Amino acid sequence: MFLVESVLAIILAAGEGKRMKSKHSKVMHCISGKPMIKHVVDAVMEAKIDDITVVVGHRAEEIKEYLKDSVNYAFQDQQLGTGHAVKCAEKCFEKKSGQVIVLTGDTPMITTQTIKELISYHRDNNYSATIMSAEFEDPTGYGRILRDKNSEVLKIVEHKDCTVEEISINEVNSGIYCFDIDDLKNALDDIKNNNAQGEYYLTDAIEIIKSKNKKIGAYIVKDKVEIMGINNRQQLSEAQQILKKKVCIEYMLNGVTIIDDNNTYISRGAVIGKDTIIYPGTIIDAQTVIGEDCVIGPNTTIEKSTIGNGTNVKNSVVLEAKVGENTTVGPFAYLRPNSVVGDECRIGDFVEIKNSTIGNGTKVSHLTYVGDATVGSKVNFGCGTVLVNYDGEKKYRSTIGDNVFIGCNTNLVSPVDVKDGSYIAAGSTITEDIPKDSLAIARARQINKEGWVEQKGKGRKNK
Ligand code: UD1
Ligand code: CA
Repeated sequence: MFLVESVLAIILAAGEGKRMKSKHSKVMHCISGKPMIKHVVDAVMEAKIDDITVVVGHRAEEIKEYLKDSVNYAFQDQQLGTGHAVKCAEKCFEKKSGQVIVLTGDTPMITTQTIKELISYHRDNNYSATIMSAEFEDPTGYGRILRDKNSEVLKIVEHKDCTVEEISINEVNSGIYCFDIDDLKNALDDIKNNNAQGEYYLTDAIEIIKSKNKKIGAYIVKDKVEIMGINNRQQLSEAQQILKKKVCIEYMLNGVTIIDDNNTYISRGAVIGKDTIIYPGTIIDAQTVIGEDCVIGPNTTIEKSTIGNGTNVKNSVVLEAKVGENTTVGPFAYLRPNSVVGDECRIGDFVEIKNSTIGNGTKVSHLTYVGDATVGSKVNFGCGTVLVNYDGEKKYRSTIGDNVFIGCNTNLVSPVDVKDGSYIAAGSTITEDIPKDSLAIARARQINKEGWVEQKGKGRKNK
């Protein structure tokens, strides 16, 4: 029986990540909109391993603030090496038996499936320690797997400690392992720091366990990109490119058309319905839900939002908003947090909506700001309408009923209540409530001064 539930996990994330040249913890750098450490934590959790200890040290607070109490923490005060980091987490397995998997927070492409396969491989072959490995064309920077003539794993040698012969080995250590807890416990105390970097290497545990006549395995990962370690921003970008494509393919195979997967950034976790088409330059975060038969993009950002079936969003930004079905948004619209747009609406070019509800069938076609308003259904906003919601100190809310017709270039000075069926003449500045089914005109009357040009001697045509 495969009981992944009884396995513990330790994720190393205390290092500074000097090569990143960053103020932030290396593992907090994002790929596909999610910190690297979170990718690793999620992959482990989805394998139904819920006893997870993250070793933190450098910028510990940043990591803890993000992961909160979804995991346990061990603290590594000084970053003396990966072996020392695991030792700092010893409490989590001290009184336990069975297996512990160790991962690094900078290997974000690892998948749940591969983690499960590592554990099965380890158990099925009764290994004491199993390294996840792969053959890399360019193994620079990685620890190398040394094997004897029968292909049995002997030890791991860090790149900086390799001899001329060892450096040409292509099989690399992923930094992901499965250990029998008892064997790891015994090995940790024997790790020394007499190496090129003066660090306590976890990799040395392999040779130590081997020296006790225990069996060591190497599980060769099927898709080697999964074990890419991210140490600098170039590798971060490479991983981003690879992951972005992988994620796009997952959505394509689930019925979403993506016009250009080199130029579409979808975070895993987003829900996108069948027959939706996504044009280039679109960024969709993990907390967004998009319906079926939508057309999204080009050049559109959607975050923490819900988009109904059959809706089009073109060249627009939608943040923490909800849009109904068969609505069109954009080009060049901006839906800000707490906007709820109904079905069959039209939100056109250069329209900004903030903290407002827009009823079904309402059209806000161009050059309009709707902030802090509740708008009914089938309302028509003329071009250049502004909800004047702020007096420099406070924000105010207005209500616009159903079937209201707002003429172009209208200011609605909030708070005002515009009742159902009323009309507002173009160019009005509305400061008072408008009763049902009436016409409000709030502008100075036009005066024509006949013969004025001649009287003033101002004719333009002679100039
Ligand atoms: C490590 C492995 C190397 C492997 C590579 C795979 C060792 C000695 N080397 O090298 O064999 O090929 O990963 O990507 O293990 N960390 C701590 N505390 C420390 C030092 C590191 O928590 O004192 C954490 C880091 O935050 C990081 C992870 O351990 O998440 C790996 O450390 P890093 O310095 O990136 O190791 P590599 O040189 O990449
Ligand atoms: Ca690394």
